[in-house]
Amino acid sequence: MITMGIETSCDETAVGIVKNGTEILSNTIQSSLILHKKTQGVVPEVAARDAFSKILSVVDTSLSEANCTWADIDIMACTNGPGLAGSLMVGIETARTLAYIYDKPLVPVQHISGHMYSNVLGRDIPRFPVLVLTVSGGHNNLILWKNYFEFELLGETLDDASGEAFDKVGKMLGLDFPGGPEIEKLAKKGNPKAFDFPRPMAQKSNLDFSYSGIKTAMVNQLRKIPELTDQVRADLAASFQEAVVESLLIKLKKAHKIHKTTTIYLSGGVSCNERLQQIIKNYCDKIGVELYCPIQKILSTDNGAMIASAGYFKYNHLKSDWNYKNTEMNLSHDLV
Ligand code: KG4
Ligand code: ZN
Repeated sequence: MITMGIETSCDETAVGIVKNGTEILSNTIQSSLILHKKTQGVVPEVAARDAFSKILSVVDTSLSEANCTWADIDIMACTNGPGLAGSLMVGIETARTLAYIYDKPLVPVQHISGHMYSNVLGRDIPRFPVLVLTVSGGHNNLILWKNYFEFELLGETLDDASGEAFDKVGKMLGLDFPGGPEIEKLAKKGNPKAFDFPRPMAQKSNLDFSYSGIKTAMVNQLRKIPELTDQVRADLAASFQEAVVESLLIKLKKAHKIHKTTTIYLSGGVSCNERLQQIIKNYCDKIGVELYCPIQKILSTDNGAMIASAGYFKYNHLKSDWNYKNTEMNLSHDLV
């Protein structure tokens, strides 16, 4: 069964085509990132207009890269939320129109559940029950994924997502947008112990996260530094990165003490971070748990293949009567 997935929840206009939920036939992504560099953050109106101008050509490219025609597509899937309203509307209305014209079932997919499925791409069906840490620019969640349609949200951020904190601190350090990959690059030249940033919420027994304290600590630290040399910037980047990844590990450990799954999934844009992957892998090796990260960086960040995968499994396991009419915008964080 072949599924086309459309993802337009933020700055990417992405279409992926996936066979049987796991085999990627194509994964075409056009990003409007370059348009947001000046503003150092995604401008919703700009992202939506860019998606609108690109969506049909991305659909065509994805079909030709997959060597498919419309006759080969069995299911359509699209992100229906959460995300930027204008960008979401472009994807949803395009998917609805194409599903109507070509007479395909259309499955709405919650964006975060798409990230969760990114770990089955190029692999096998999900390894339930699995503990999932989904960390990106818009979300920061710990989820116990019990089966295809049962998710338990164990913890979430009380303010910024970790990716958002990377982006904002990147801006403070005068780095390019998005800050996450730039901070990671700079951190390689710095000393992670040079500055002492807090590990927020570490003492709290709950599984929620918070990043406003680390950001404030960075602002205060920057005020105290007389000269921001290249080495000081690298030390700040390394110390900040260490604080964020350690705070993620602290909560993951707490969650795993309660829910002792044999598998942990890491997903979302921040899961590209090699230091994060490394410290979580060390922990998983120590306790004999298998860690899965998406097989390519392109699958960690927003993409259409993960939406196609989620749509395929939802279609096959929820047994709903999907049609193009029932795809409404989902502005809530409910995972199904
Ligand atoms: O999943 P994603 O593409 O979009 C959302 O759903 O938000 O994630 C984008 C986020 C950005 O905040 C970006 O800075 C962060 O992921 N990111 C990283 C890295 N690569 C991307 N953060 C830390 N280290 C990285 N290597
Ligand atoms: Zn995302």
